Amino acid sequence: MKFLLEKIKKKKAVIGVIGLGYVGLPLALEFAKKGFRVKGVDLNEEKVSSLCRGKSYVGDVKDTEVKSTLKRKTFMPFSDTSALNDTDVVIICVPTPLRKTREPDVSYIIQAVESILSLNAKKRLIILESTTYPGTTDEVIAQMLMDAGLVPKKDFLLVFSPERVDPGNKNYKTKDIPKVVGGIDPLSTKIAAALYQNIIPKVIQVSSTQSAEMVKLLENTFRIVNIGLVNELAMMCDKMNINVWEVIEAAATKPFGFMPFYPGPGLGGHCIPIDPLYLSWKARMFDFEARFIDLASQINRMMPQYVIQKTIEALNERRKSIKSAKIYILGLAYKKDVHDIRESPALDIISALNTKGAKIFIHDPYYAKMDGHIQGVYKKPTPANLKSMDCVLLITDHLAYKKQIKNIVKNCSMLIDTRYITKGIKSSKIVLI
Ligand SMILES: NC(=O)c1ccc[n+]([C@@H]2O[C@H](COP(=O)([O-])OP(=O)(O)OC[C@H]3O[C@@H](n4cnc5c(N)ncnc54)[C@H](O)[C@@H]3O)[C@@H](O)[C@H]2O)c1
Repeated sequence: MKFLLEKIKKKKAVIGVIGLGYVGLPLALEFAKKGFRVKGVDLNEEKVSSLCRGKSYVGDVKDTEVKSTLKRKTFMPFSDTSALNDTDVVIICVPTPLRKTREPDVSYIIQAVESILSLNAKKRLIILESTTYPGTTDEVIAQMLMDAGLVPKKDFLLVFSPERVDPGNKNYKTKDIPKVVGGIDPLSTKIAAALYQNIIPKVIQVSSTQSAEMVKLLENTFRIVNIGLVNELAMMCDKMNINVWEVIEAAATKPFGFMPFYPGPGLGGHCIPIDPLYLSWKARMFDFEARFIDLASQINRMMPQYVIQKTIEALNERRKSIKSAKIYILGLAYKKDVHDIRESPALDIISALNTKGAKIFIHDPYYAKMDGHIQGVYKKPTPANLKSMDCVLLITDHLAYKKQIKNIVKNCSMLIDTRYITKGIKSSKIVLI
């Protein structure tokens, strides 16, 4: 398999990427921009046809990046996995959601490996980038490959390399974030490291796939626990009539030993609400209870309900009932400046408010209209629309709202601010969480 190293060094290796979403598309384009031939496959034909037209659907990827790599023929999108027949490397970037029972669902990974097994028998480096529980690469992927008669090191190399991209982050894109790689053997690790060094200046080699899998889960567990802590403090400060936001800002002036995390209406996105539960699920197999994860998840899951409770109380103080109240939701996305509503707390809040009989109006600058399954009327935040509402509930601190926050406060009758974007504005209309 050492021939692969030579091919990578000469940029002759053909790279396949399975799953062209928030993770797979930017990654594929980084390799394509460096001159590798990259074949991307996605089962979603709409996405593939959009890419073939040179149109990106991922906020951090510009159309020009797609167009230029298509033109140079270094990037080729397909909806059929057989396009990967001539690849030397295949990188798997498919979703890893939770089942309804809140257990890991690795079926997309299994499907991706099945499609690799259906390709021409060729010696390949296979890399998993999807976030998953420690052991997946070895216990699921290596096992499937070996069950099909393939021999490690002879027929395949196998590595886990966590994707650490933060969609919407202007300072750190895929190419700027150090890459961790851990293979099933030292040769796999070495060759994968050589591959990533072409697009990412810093590559960290760890001793096993399990360590690499755990790195990602430690990072996201660190976040879920700290967000859980600060959400609990926000609820505590509210009872004590202390502005938690002011406290965090002041604490963050300490130049060491403190890193600010901020409260909010609840967790969202494909990572933080999900990944740590992959870890706690696996820990249970070792008769180990991941108490920090469970407690933090529990507190974070309470936040949408907490926001609703604050809304009901604020309406009540103004002699209004939640039933029939006109509530204007600003922001659907789970975080600022992204076009992504996966697991967004806005969805839980909208659904609960609908159940309570409120009339829901919605706006998000990243959505021109409402998806059919979200119950609410789409309206732009014009002064007249803001004035016609009983309550504005700001869920996402998109820049577009920050820019017009003074007007929003001026025209609304009440604003529940879950993100402190009203910082510096004094008004009895504002209710902070
Ligand atoms: N989005 C993030 O911020 C982020 C950051 C780091 C890591 N991750 C992890 O990366 C993985 C992918 O996340 P994402 O946000 O890119 O998901 P995504 O839903 O944006 O993209 C995944 C893509 O895979 C495609 N797909 C599914 N099964 C396929 C198959 N068998 N063959 C071909 N295509 C297939 C889907 O159509 C989809 O377009 C997940 O494990 C996630 O946890 C995500």
